[in-house]
Amino acid sequence: MPKQVHISPEIQERLNQLADKYQASGQELLDFLDGLLYQDYNTYWDYIHLDTLLSLQSPVTDIPDEEIFIMYHQITELYFKLSLHELNQLAASVRPSLETFKVKLGRINRYFEALTHSFAVMMDGMDRHQFLKFRMSLIPASGFQSVQYRLIELCATDMVNLVDQEVRPAFIAAAKSEEEMYQHIYWKKGATIADTGAKTLTLKQFELKYSEKIIRHAKNFSDKNIWQLYLKLSPEEQANQELKDQLRLLDLNVNVFWPLQHYKTSVVYLARRPMDVRATGGTNWQKYLPPRFQKRIFYPALWSDLEKEEWGKSWVNQVLDEVKNS
Ligand code: HEM
Repeated sequence: MPKQVHISPEIQERLNQLADKYQASGQELLDFLDGLLYQDYNTYWDYIHLDTLLSLQSPVTDIPDEEIFIMYHQITELYFKLSLHELNQLAASVRPSLETFKVKLGRINRYFEALTHSFAVMMDGMDRHQFLKFRMSLIPASGFQSVQYRLIELCATDMVNLVDQEVRPAFIAAAKSEEEMYQHIYWKKGATIADTGAKTLTLKQFELKYSEKIIRHAKNFSDKNIWQLYLKLSPEEQANQELKDQLRLLDLNVNVFWPLQHYKTSVVYLARRPMDVRATGGTNWQKYLPPRFQKRIFYPALWSDLEKEEWGKSWVNQVLDEVKNS
């Protein structure tokens, strides 16, 4: 004979709550209890889709270190997704509280710091000769084609700050549409063939797949990117030092520290005298990748003229020390 369960007041309370819940949507509690009876236990491997995850590495060569290259890109894309997860939540709240703002920025900063530190997996963790062989099989694919990276930028700042710095002042002076700004977005200039100035195949393919999505995203975030949300805070909240520190840190993490680490890695693998190795994207990467040349700055109003002038140079370590000690 089945064991008789003693229905304690706590269990009764939960049953009542469940009955209310299901009744509200016209469902029967008993049906759901039956469901529970037959339902299997959750397992770790099903919950995180372990088998699928581990099946997503498909090298195109049999050179062992290509797996490291693939997995580290995948790890990076997951961190980018985590960042977008926070940015989307911030944008969804009409006016985030100061506390929420700080917590979310803190999370995104942590993700980028993890990425910057772990870039050693790329810089020190692959055999250069192996890399130079398998990279030839990847042409014209390049991390340049990471759409999540471009979406993060558009969530973080007004689009005009991502316009190529040569035309940026003119674009700031006269409000332009997202379509016009997109024509001059900084990374298009980077993706031109070093010798001719023509668009690289890497860029052409990226535009074909993502231009519409990126412009839609830019429009969507024009009034709810991080800077616009910051402007919605009260003057006292905007003056909050911790918040400003987090914003400045985000600017450094995305526009200086990660790009610098990435650039240094490119130098390790691709720089060789007398001629650099051509990048898979075919760009003049030496002139394009260093943060001090691109001068991408999400929050110009939070930096002094000197800091902007010296963007990407040695002063950033000093600012970082100040933020860490504050
Ligand atoms: C050995 C490792 C790496 C090397 C040598 C390398 C090299 C390069 C080069 C030369 C470019 C310029 C575009 C081109 O010509 O292709 C580039 C762009 C880029 N790469 Fe990498 N990369 C490496 C790892 C990564 C990783 C792990 C990621 C993570 C997703 C990544 C993301 C990017 C992004 C987002 C850009 C565009 C940067 C910008 O527009 O400022 N790269 N990479």
